[in-house]
Amino acid sequence: MLHRDAIGFVLVSLAVLATANAARNDDFADLRGPYCENVGCCTDRVDSCSVPILGTLCYCDEFCNVTRVDDCCPDYWSHCRGVTYPPPPPPTEAPEPAIGCRYGNRALRWKQEVRDNCNKCVCEQMPNKELELLCETNVCLVDQSIIEGVNRDTDRVGWTATNYSQFWGRTLDDGVKLRLGTLPPQRFVMNMNPVKRIYDPYALPAHFDSRIRWGEYITGIQDQGWCGSSWAISTAAVASDRYGIVSNGREAVQLSAQHLVSCDTQGQQSCSGGHLDRAWSFTKFYGLVDEECFPYVASNTACPFKKRGSLQQAGCRPKFSDRVARYTVGPAYRLGNETDIMYEITRSGPVQATMKVYHDFFTYNGGIYKHSTMGINHKQGYHSVRIIGWGEDRTNRGMVKYWLVANSWGSNWGEDGYFRIERGTNECEIETFVIASWPHVHRKLLAARNH
Ligand SMILES: *[C@@H]1O[C@H](CO)[C@@H](O)[C@H](O)[C@H]1NC(C)=O
Ligand SMILES: *[C@@H]1O[C@H](CO)[C@@H](O)[C@H](O)[C@H]1NC(C)=O
Ligand SMILES: *[C@@H]1O[C@H](CO)[C@@H](O)[C@H](O)[C@H]1NC(C)=O
Repeated sequence: MLHRDAIGFVLVSLAVLATANAARNDDFADLRGPYCENVGCCTDRVDSCSVPILGTLCYCDEFCNVTRVDDCCPDYWSHCRGVTYPPPPPPTEAPEPAIGCRYGNRALRWKQEVRDNCNKCVCEQMPNKELELLCETNVCLVDQSIIEGVNRDTDRVGWTATNYSQFWGRTLDDGVKLRLGTLPPQRFVMNMNPVKRIYDPYALPAHFDSRIRWGEYITGIQDQGWCGSSWAISTAAVASDRYGIVSNGREAVQLSAQHLVSCDTQGQQSCSGGHLDRAWSFTKFYGLVDEECFPYVASNTACPFKKRGSLQQAGCRPKFSDRVARYTVGPAYRLGNETDIMYEITRSGPVQATMKVYHDFFTYNGGIYKHSTMGINHKQGYHSVRIIGWGEDRTNRGMVKYWLVANSWGSNWGEDGYFRIERGTNECEIETFVIASWPHVHRKLLAARNH
């Protein structure tokens, strides 16, 4: 018996080894009978520890499986190791066909998978034995034909489209479910009477931007992530803006959208959407804490404190030392038409709007949005956003009026996180359901403001 760790042996028997390795290529698993039972089991590598089988040799040493070519005798596993290994190979009725599938300029093997944007594709054998690439048929959030269609016709549609890497590879269904998140207003809210205001519509400016008027009191752009929480983000942001404006900055605060996502759960669906009227009622009755105290995490985490209570009871510290209560608001009110909305913004700050989102909106890059016919029959959803101003632009379609709106898809989307959308035509129903509410700024600060 020879032990193979000895270098000397390797040198003298290179030729023998080469032949042995060439022979060590078969799998004898389905030949039953006593082999190792006759020669015995050997430890380490012992080439003589073998039995003739089918014109070659099978082995009963510990080395028989380390080459990854199984040349162990059929009864090696059961006799020497007391295990049933290797398992019998599956019947090989469908041998791998020679030709492959093509994906672009890539060749794919049988069963090989590839991702085509939001769809998984696999190279499959057809009943006629041909190989074909079979793909899922989801509508993808980023649709190249929409982008090209919009960009080819920019002069007429008025805006440009782009491929956002954060949306690439996702389905439109995901986008509608997790990037929007406003449940359609219930009938009784739709019938809510708009407030009446007395003003001169001709005295309204042609351009208005809350960020210029009120500076840092206006909340920046947030990113809701893959959580359908626009209902919570837009509510918290409108209330925050108005706290800063009405208190002249003394109670400037960013209110917590997560507070609504996690705690306003009655009849609401957290990251699967919410009703705006319920969000405002919750804010009115219980108030919100600030973002620093309960930061946004884009998921349905449990409410960490009691629904009712002071800021301190929620473990938060007020910015203005006299404040005890959480940040509450008055009843929400609805604004009835274009000029009413404009007047409201100049007087009290940004407002909340609900819009219908069509497929092409996800790819908006800049310009004055108006939904195109591209992807118009695909799935749609409702989204809530914050109107912060308006303006008008001379274009080759004539003068186009627009709203200036804050979205919640991060600041690399659109025009630094904002978009402009046609004004005065109820584009995407954006003028149908516009609401606002008055903040309950601490009375000491209100008194100071009136001096
Ligand atoms: C043989 O292969 C099996 C499975 O891969 C492994 O568990 C075992 O340790 C191997 N035996 C030797 C001696 O390498
Ligand atoms: C879109 O962007 C993604 C990620 O940045 C990229 O992989 C993909 O090829 C782009 N698609 C098109 C059609 O440009
Ligand atoms: C909007 O409604 C107000 C009354 O609330 C009315 O005075 C005004 O003319 C209307 N504006 C438009 C553009 O319809």
